[in-house]
Amino acid sequence: MTTNHQLPSAKIREHHQELLSKLARVRETIDRLERGEMGEVNEGLRESVKFFDAELRPHAEWEEDNLYPPVGELLKRYGSPTATMEVDHDAIVGRIDRFRNDVAAFLSLSGRPKEREQLTRQLIRNAWQLEAIVSLHFTKEEDVYLPLVDSHMTAKEVEKLLGGEH
Ligand SMILES: [Fe+2]
Ligand SMILES: [Fe+2]
Repeated sequence: MTTNHQLPSAKIREHHQELLSKLARVRETIDRLERGEMGEVNEGLRESVKFFDAELRPHAEWEEDNLYPPVGELLKRYGSPTATMEVDHDAIVGRIDRFRNDVAAFLSLSGRPKEREQLTRQLIRNAWQLEAIVSLHFTKEEDVYLPLVDSHMTAKEVEKLLGGEH
């Protein structure tokens, strides 16, 4: 998105891109470890720990101390407090769709070991991602949303909601 350069948040978005590419390097190191390609694995593992402690954790701390307070105020005035959860849902649904397509392709394979291997890797990665995203998503709902429900809604009101979806 080239227009991001004009946005006041451009530097934060760029930093996210940088963190994501380093996170991808961590994953590549773990992939090599799994394949038994031990050449640069030890160095990669050390770099990964350093990256988490020196960059990823401080990024989260910086956000909590500096970015979230003003964003919290902006959300109250202009935003939707549940929008981030809907973003999670989109991420989950996208991976479910991908999983379904990969399963269909996998089941129609016959004797093509290279494709089989690639699809297997995709399915494994997708399943791991889904488990991580869904479990984090449920934690957010159970730790943040449902205590509000318990404090401020009656059992009868909740029962009515459950008539729809749960
Ligand atoms: Fe961030
Ligand atoms: Fe949800």
